[in-house]
Amino acid sequence: MDKIRVIGGNALKGTIVVKGAKNAVLPLMACALLTDDEMVFENVPHLADINTMTQVLRHLGADVTHENETLRVRANAIRNFDAPYELVSKMRASFWVLGPLLGRFHQAKISLPGGCAIGTRPIDRHLYAMERLGAQISIQNGYVQATSSGRLKGNKIIFQPTVGGTMNALMAAVLATGTTEIVNAAAEPEVTDLARCLNQMGAKISGVGTRRLLVEGVDSLHGTTYKVVPDRIEAATYAVAAGITHGELYIENAHLYLMEDVAFVLSRMGLDVIEKDNGLFVSGKNCELVATDIVTEEFPGFPTDCQAQVMALMCLAKGTSTVTENIFENRFMHVQELVRMGANIHIQGTRTAVVRGVDHLSGAPVMASDLRASAALVLAGLAAEGETIINRIYHLDRGYDRLEEKLRSVGADIVRFRPIGDEEI
Ligand code: UD1
Repeated sequence: MDKIRVIGGNALKGTIVVKGAKNAVLPLMACALLTDDEMVFENVPHLADINTMTQVLRHLGADVTHENETLRVRANAIRNFDAPYELVSKMRASFWVLGPLLGRFHQAKISLPGGCAIGTRPIDRHLYAMERLGAQISIQNGYVQATSSGRLKGNKIIFQPTVGGTMNALMAAVLATGTTEIVNAAAEPEVTDLARCLNQMGAKISGVGTRRLLVEGVDSLHGTTYKVVPDRIEAATYAVAAGITHGELYIENAHLYLMEDVAFVLSRMGLDVIEKDNGLFVSGKNCELVATDIVTEEFPGFPTDCQAQVMALMCLAKGTSTVTENIFENRFMHVQELVRMGANIHIQGTRTAVVRGVDHLSGAPVMASDLRASAALVLAGLAAEGETIINRIYHLDRGYDRLEEKLRSVGADIVRFRPIGDEEI
């Protein structure tokens, strides 16, 4: 299995270009199931999770191609209505095909995703939404079976916040009869991107970008070409890379409106974050990193997907920082790995990590536990003295397009390698 070796200490300098958001591409691919026409998505990175969604769509009968940064989906010959365990267990966003299959074909059989490294992550809110729209749901042999006799029927859905649940509800509701009101909808930029694309396909969704979405059902949708919103989490990761190495990066396609809270936290910690042309200029040059506190929340609050990366920065900040994780119940797997590199972190209760800044981190072999935790370990490695070897980097490949190449192009000493004798699995 591939590993990453980082030798810390180089200040990064240059430009990194951020691509379309993984968490927007996945539901956009699912929404292509809602029309016979070809859907064309632009600005799509090459990521393992996108390959997994491609496999899900091909299994259903769709044609999918991904050349350069253009991904095309044509769902005019759907013949299966199930998402198998092998794919859903690999990536829970496979579950996002439930809404469009049910909305257009009135049937779906999707494997239950099971738990994951960051928490139990149930899907009850998704199922509640489908039931509110008139679907009959049963769970058998590890699969959710959902059917409806004809079109779904618009209704009021009152959510406890859920990003994926809101996406599934939107994709189910656009072809329903009547009006659906989604109260307490997630307003993450990736949800907004999906709603915009659906409207471009002929859907009638109002309140886009707010917590109350109104969907007036239509009879059919048509194909379109859609440019995916930039990845705010990728952008934030490179912003931390600039800070932790005391370097200067121009992050092209990063925008404050997508990551205002992250930019605010980084500024509080001493970085310069300036919007310039089509990106963000982030500098940690000559700055003394100072401690701060973060609490993860729904958008526009601080994103849980950036918590691990900013924690790496806190490890080297003067003073005591806290990270309170409010979205997932078990998202501190990176803590013990950072501690192995010399960080001073302890967990208080179940939700809060207390980070006491240290003078330096030292390189060590570490284990990636999930996607964003892997990024945090790479960031810590960039600043650590000596060599850090990051194991299980397949997590990283799920969400970062050629991360090591991008970092190397701005001066990092980082390589991907496969130990002799290790076969691909
Ligand atoms: C999405 C993102 C993930 C991000 C998360 C929160 C994708 C592919 N993934 O995940 O990167 O960290 O949003 O911003 O876009 N919950 C329930 N029941 C449900 C659904 C969710 O209890 O039916 C809970 C979850 O366990 C979690 C919280 O609600 O504690 C928020 O989860 P949710 O917003 O649904 O996250 P995802 O859509 O799975």
